[in-house]
Amino acid sequence: MCGIVAYIGPRQAYPVLLKGLKRLEYRGYDSAGIALINDDNQLKVYKRKGKVAELEESLTGIPLAANIGIGHTRWATHGEPSDRNAHPHISQSGKIAMIHNGIIENYAQIKQELLNKGYRFHSDTDTEVLLNFIDDIREQNHCPLEEAVRIALKRVVGAYVIVLLDIENPDTLIAARKGSPLVIGIGKGEHFLASDASPILEYSKEVVYVNDYQVAIIKSDELILKNLGNERQTPFITKLDMDLAAIEKGGYDHFMIKEIFEQPTTVFDCLRGRLDAGLGLITLSGIEQNLETLTQARRIIIVACGTSWHAGLVGEYLIEELCRIPVEVEYASEFRYRNPVVGEGDVILAVSQSGETADTLVAIEKAKENGAFIYGIVNVVGSSIARVSHTGTYTHAGPEIGVASTKAFTAQLTVITLFALRLALAKGTISRERFLSLCNELSVIPDKIAQILDNAAAVEAIAQRYKDARDFLYLGRGNNFPIALEGALKLKEISYIHAEGYPAGEMKHGPIALVDDALPVVFVATKDAVHEKVVSNMQEIKARRGRVIAILTEGDDFTAQLCEAHIAIPETDELLTPLLSVIPMQLLAYYIGVAKDLDVDKPRNLAKSVTVE
Ligand code: M6R
Repeated sequence: MCGIVAYIGPRQAYPVLLKGLKRLEYRGYDSAGIALINDDNQLKVYKRKGKVAELEESLTGIPLAANIGIGHTRWATHGEPSDRNAHPHISQSGKIAMIHNGIIENYAQIKQELLNKGYRFHSDTDTEVLLNFIDDIREQNHCPLEEAVRIALKRVVGAYVIVLLDIENPDTLIAARKGSPLVIGIGKGEHFLASDASPILEYSKEVVYVNDYQVAIIKSDELILKNLGNERQTPFITKLDMDLAAIEKGGYDHFMIKEIFEQPTTVFDCLRGRLDAGLGLITLSGIEQNLETLTQARRIIIVACGTSWHAGLVGEYLIEELCRIPVEVEYASEFRYRNPVVGEGDVILAVSQSGETADTLVAIEKAKENGAFIYGIVNVVGSSIARVSHTGTYTHAGPEIGVASTKAFTAQLTVITLFALRLALAKGTISRERFLSLCNELSVIPDKIAQILDNAAAVEAIAQRYKDARDFLYLGRGNNFPIALEGALKLKEISYIHAEGYPAGEMKHGPIALVDDALPVVFVATKDAVHEKVVSNMQEIKARRGRVIAILTEGDDFTAQLCEAHIAIPETDELLTPLLSVIPMQLLAYYIGVAKDLDVDKPRNLAKSVTVE
């Protein structure tokens, strides 16, 4: 989703902005642009539909010397992707340029007021409306730009990060946020602004996360934060705990495959300091500090979107089985618009890689207002969901750049497993023996993931064989049903092949009508309590000449004979199987996408961080 960068300081702004925009490309976008106040004190805007590289090429030979500038990648909401809708926008007076991430919900009403005053618009965006609204307030009130911004934002309904460049104040950037992310990097006599830390990392490790309803007034050597009431607020400086290698490809062809192969390490990192299998100990500070609230929970509601929602579905199996607490798993986008019965005694697990997903964020804010206790399971440190939560556990998967979530998913499953085990122990719903056995098995999961990855070439061969299929069906039962859903989502995202995930038992209630000799059906058929049932479903597909591909437990030669192709994974405790069975799903989607020569890291229409609802 839209990416924002800005710079002020002694360096040339253009190269900093350009590199920053390239670092943010993973978020997904359709157009790009920059604005600079050049050395001749002119406000210049360059923008176009398409990739950042195309913008760069179009600027070859143009003098771009400047020490202050803003840059933007746009993911269309109001108005189609086009040159004129691309950001930055320039105000009617020609004095202010602005970039914006988010949606202004009451823009139509403000636009009408401005039209009545004689304003004319050159784009279809809500951004241009907000910009002229701010400029109009400044003109009417003869006030500084920061004041006009504050007045305007008090009227705005919606989510935003805005950054403004003002020809009348060429040594100052003004920025503000509500509901969308904004990070300010602090250098020596310079400042960097971005939607996340990745464009800042190579210049500074000291950052300030701007809070909702704060306005930042930024000069090279000064950062002032104020609330909308014009009161100064102390910037809280945080040290970034990541290095540049984490956001680069490191020899892999794509971020997605790098991140798939990182999983033995990311799961290990996620367990480190939390699981001591030898002593039979799990320590999660979020649980230790809130033991009473969590053990007394009358219900746990897991709220998430996309892949994180699938992690939540696996969580439902784990928590109900181990803790005997009723669990509901909700799509955040549905939960927030219902009038859900939620309040004191409810614990919300908010699961999110980015920590910025607008639907999840608003859903937990609502539940919090009603008295629910919010436990965040988030990857990005300092993100909005992490900050809104009462407590939580970071997944420590490191930056995930590929739009398709892979290592973040297994890290989420790992945290949810730790959560369920620790809570079960506190509630006394698990025997010491079972607890120890699961801890031991969890501690060797990173090695077992590594074993599956050693066999990636076999998955690649399967991908070659099935890459031209028009549709896929994914089936699983129990805690492997969410893995079937996740497999189908990964394939859709990366290869643009239509894929459906279903509980295997539901197949007879409709999807079986799709089965013919052209349909690959991917079964998750590992050895577990429902294995025989899944094998029966497989026979039913075979009887209708469907093409069965299966993920099986090593040594299951009988089931292997029923399949056209199969991938074997190591045996583990049934409750932990999803941590392994998802790996071949990720590989299959990746290799099919690559075989079809698609942009697997940045699939069409998708955004990494969905900051609009
Ligand atoms: O950052 P979040 O985990 O909150 O994101 C939720 C979904 O947007 C995300 O999982 C999406 O479905 C991914 N593209 C899946 O690969």
